[in-house]
Amino acid sequence: MDTSFSLVVATDQNRGIGKNGDLPWRLKKDMQYFKDITTNTVDRQKQNAVIMGRTTWDSIPTKFRPLPNRHNIVLTRNKDFDLNSSQTTSANSIDSALTIAKELNAENVYIIGGGNIYNQCIDMMNCKKIYITEVDNSFECDTFFPEFKSTFQLIKSSEIINEGNDQYQFNVYERININ
Ligand SMILES: NC(=O)c1ccc[n+]([C@@H]2O[C@H](COP(=O)([O-])OP(=O)(O)OC[C@H]3O[C@@H](n4cnc5c(N)ncnc54)[C@H](OP(=O)(O)O)[C@@H]3O)[C@@H](O)[C@H]2O)c1
Repeated sequence: MDTSFSLVVATDQNRGIGKNGDLPWRLKKDMQYFKDITTNTVDRQKQNAVIMGRTTWDSIPTKFRPLPNRHNIVLTRNKDFDLNSSQTTSANSIDSALTIAKELNAENVYIIGGGNIYNQCIDMMNCKKIYITEVDNSFECDTFFPEFKSTFQLIKSSEIINEGNDQYQFNVYERININ
């Protein structure tokens, strides 16, 4: 499967991303950033695709899903899983999710978690970029983002955002090309 995609994630200092099936934090400006990155397109006729694991789908409150103005694709191996949404597609493998995104003519494809899915994607060569919010704090977590800094390089870094007791940055990493 040759469809390129990016990962979108927020991590703490220890690459923690989740706790008890939910996010360990509430960061409003990060939620807005996530929405902007995953929704905005150059071609107004097109939408982006967001691919996520079933547990991440479950973690989104019913009233907020599917994520609006994006093609939502949920990964599950359960053939009987009821998405309860006609605007959302399920896929039983990452390749199949990428094929669906291509068939939907998505402008960009974003894989938005969770830990299980990031772990399977990080070494795929068509995983080109990581949009990562790096929170300069440490939280109690039970789900983690994989190590990536030996195979990806920082290409963009925002100013430091202050929100409550938290400080964070919106960073973009790109896969280092090995020819
Ligand atoms: N900080 C962040 O940016 C961020 C982003 C997203 C999520 N999270 C957090 O991460 C946690 C969830 O992550 P998680 O690792 O527990 O679960 P997950 O990655 O969201 O979903 C795992 C599920 O996806 C399905 N799946 C996995 N690989 C598949 C494959 N190759 N083909 C088809 N289906 C596949 C399976 O569903 P079935 O069991 O239905 O078969 C599996 O149980 C939550 O705490 C969430 O809040 C954090």
